Formats: sequence, C-alpha cells, structure tokens
Amino acid sequence: MAVATDELALHHITVRFGGLTALDDVSLRVAPGKVVGVIGPNGAGKTTLFNVICGFVPPTEGTLTLDGRDWRPRPHHLSRLGIARTLQGVGQFAGMTVLENVMVGVRGRRAEAEALAALDRCGVAKYAATYPGALPYAIRKRIELARALASKPRVLMLDEPAGGLDTDEIRWLGDLIKEIGTTVLLVEHHMDLVMSVCDEILVLDFGKPIALGTPAEISTNERVTEAYLGTPA
Ligand SMILES: Nc1ncnc2c1ncn2[C@@H]1O[C@H](COP(=O)(O)OP(=O)(O)O)[C@@H](O)[C@H]1O
Ligand SMILES: [Mg+2]
Repeated sequence: MAVATDELALHHITVRFGGLTALDDVSLRVAPGKVVGVIGPNGAGKTTLFNVICGFVPPTEGTLTLDGRDWRPRPHHLSRLGIARTLQGVGQFAGMTVLENVMVGVRGRRAEAEALAALDRCGVAKYAATYPGALPYAIRKRIELARALASKPRVLMLDEPAGGLDTDEIRWLGDLIKEIGTTVLLVEHHMDLVMSVCDEILVLDFGKPIALGTPAEISTNERVTEAYLGTPA
C-alpha cells in the first residue's frame, strides 16, 4: 500500500524565547492540497509556528521535513521552494504601484502577466496602477493575497487574512481558499471561516498542542471549548 508523503511536517518543535516557551512539542503533518488551520488565543504561538516554517525563528528543539526530507527553512529559499506567506496586517510598499508590489515576488518574463492575473483573481485588477497607501483596508488585504498567489505557490501560508474584514469579505475569502487548490496553512481567529474551509485544525494553547482534528471534532472537543471558545455563560 502506498504511503502518502507529507508535503510539510513539523516534528516535536519547541521554541523558547528566554524563559518563555512559545511552542511546546508541536507536531503537524500537512498533506498536499489540504487546508490546515492553526487556532488558539493570542500569544498561543501561532505566528511563531509560521515563523519557524519560514526560517525566521530557528526551533530550539525538533525538526521539519519537506516532501519527507529533512529541511532547514531559510527565508530567502521560500519562494524557490514554492512557499508563500501573507503577513498579519498589510505590508505593501507605499512608493510602488499595486502592480509593482505584486510583481515583487514573481520571477521571469511573464511576471507582469502573472501579477495581473493574480490581481484579477482577487478582484482588484482595476487598482493595478494605483498606489496602495490610499486604498481601503479590505482592498489592501486582497492585494496582499494577490502578491502571495502571483508566485503560484504550492504552499500558501495565511496569517490572519480575515482580520479587519466584514462578513461579505470573509465569505469571499473563504470561497477563494476553497478553490485555490494549493496546500494552505491558515492562522485565523474567525471561527466560521476556519470551520468552513479547513480539512484539519491544530489548536494551540500557551504553545501546547491541545487538539488536532477535523472541524467537527474540534468544535466538540471539550479541552478546546474550555481553553479557546470559552465555556457557555
Ligand atoms: N521574537 C520573540 N521574542 C520573544 N518573545 C516572543 C517573540 N515572538 C513571540 N514571542 C512570544 O511568544 C508567545 C507566542 O507569540 P505568537 O507566536 O506571536 O502568538 P500568536 O500569534 O498565537 O498570538 C507570546 O508570548 C509572544 O510574546
Ligand atoms: Mg499572531
């Protein structure tokens, strides 16, 4: 019987910042094409987990694998490896047009066409020639997403993409994530979005993995309801 290789996996990752344990023995396997959510209260270690995968934070203990091989992530290798990330908030260069911003992560002769296609896919192609500074927040979030998509990543990492968006925008985002077809790692607070798009969810609490399962399993998990969703009043 064939055993599917995990595209990306964390094995017993621990990260300590001085006396603070931001991640405590976290393991996670991400299979190709799956949407995996990471949730937990503020300070749970979600962004740190992303930073480990991006090579910004070296794990104190534990290892990572990419396609089943030992892997030591480096920030400047990510795009070549097909891993793209959006930042919490919006991180565009004010002195460049929207199109130029999106082209930053794309290489090759077709960079402009790819960037425009990504903007179009995110419904913001008409802003290509504008400067991002003056645009509404929701539009800038879409541009941030287009920037990540333009490089045609095989793994897309989204850190709170729904932050600051209204219900309609979040629904649009959910539909996009569902039809993207690439592997997605999603850190998000909006539970409706997480529950509707994720195949699997990892729950962190003070750096500790307290649950891993399908949305149905997570929403009925007692430890999760206590730690994160809050016990009913
Ligand atoms: N570079 C750092 N140096 C020291 N402490 C950090 C650093 N990055 C994060 N932390 C701490 O690690 C914990 C987890 O943070 P973070 O991963 O940002 O949580 P989350 O994204 O779940 O809100 C927090 O207590 C935070 O203050
Ligand atoms: Mg965070």
